[in-house]
Amino acid sequence: METGMKEIRDKARKMMDTFCKVCPICNGKFCAGQVPGMGGLGSGSSFTNNIDALVRLKFNMRLIHDVTDPDTSVTVLGKKLTLPVLAAPIGGVSFNMGGAVSEDNYIEAVINGCKAKGIIGCTGDGVPEFIHQAGFKAIKAADGHGIPFIKPWEDEEFFKKIEAAKASGTDSIGMDIDAAGLITLRKMGRPVSPKPLKKLTEIISRIGMTFILKGVMTADEAELAVEAGAAAIVVSNHGGRVLDHAPGSAEVLAGIADKVKGRITILADGGVRTGGDILKLLALGADAVMIGRPFSVAAVGGLQEGVETYIDSLMAELKQTMVLTGTATAASVDRRILFAPDR
Ligand SMILES: Cc1cc2nc3c(=O)[nH]c(=O)nc-3n(C[C@H](O)[C@H](O)[C@H](O)COP(=O)(O)O)c2cc1C
Repeated sequence: METGMKEIRDKARKMMDTFCKVCPICNGKFCAGQVPGMGGLGSGSSFTNNIDALVRLKFNMRLIHDVTDPDTSVTVLGKKLTLPVLAAPIGGVSFNMGGAVSEDNYIEAVINGCKAKGIIGCTGDGVPEFIHQAGFKAIKAADGHGIPFIKPWEDEEFFKKIEAAKASGTDSIGMDIDAAGLITLRKMGRPVSPKPLKKLTEIISRIGMTFILKGVMTADEAELAVEAGAAAIVVSNHGGRVLDHAPGSAEVLAGIADKVKGRITILADGGVRTGGDILKLLALGADAVMIGRPFSVAAVGGLQEGVETYIDSLMAELKQTMVLTGTATAASVDRRILFAPDR
């Protein structure tokens, strides 16, 4: 690990105290059950399943080729990214990360750090209101360079937030439909819910801009997302925070890609930590990945500079892994770079 990253992580460990131990490998074991906090829900199995599914994948190493300076850029949803990475929407710094930095400073670091390095940061939503407000403000200050994700609130609360999100100047909006699993919100009298296909179709058409549906874990729902008019899906179990005993996203991604690849943009997240992990999800069919917790650690430990340093480390690792697997471009990754004992 680069020296810069070590310092950032050491600082984050102090600042996040009991909320996140910034473990050598961020795998959900220490923080199992810590929601609020940085962990996975219940036993923490859905978080650890994300990690385990990625660890199980291995690369075929190939060196007899001419790939020395691979192209890590991709174009997704009409946006050229220097790396096939978006910072996943994460909010609630005070109750999830210990509050050593403010929500505003945190999300500005993510949005601006991503913009400076040619990728995109996303913003989260929840209760209290200042979570999404901080996100919209940061996106607006970055001239619309960022994607807000809104929870599946019931009816007018949802559309009120969508209008506020649009005012940030963004050209894309997401909904983490899996946040319907956050029963804490319903208990607070702020109901979120699943959406039947008809309702989802209406929502997407009423929003009238590039729409990303986050929290798709089965091929049949990916098919429904296409039917509803979504521009992209995020294959995600919400970092293991909404449903215990869900599979890892890398376990379901190939089946989903086999069904809908080319008809909808496929993003995926959960347990991605390194450049190698990025390449594994691309090989399974993702067009780009989202990364969650490591961006939080980088932002708390080093604000914008921390985020930029982390993106640099991902870039270096991805390039290295692309060379060693003979992958010339991130825009087209062959599934045969993955080792399959039966092939
Ligand atoms: C503390 C925390 C808060 C989160 N808040 C949101 C949110 O507001 N909206 C959302 O769509 N996802 C949210 N997520 C899920 C992330 O966007 C992402 O799916 C997940 O963190 C990916 O897994 P990883 O952290 O293992 O990379 C949150 C995750 C964490 C850890």
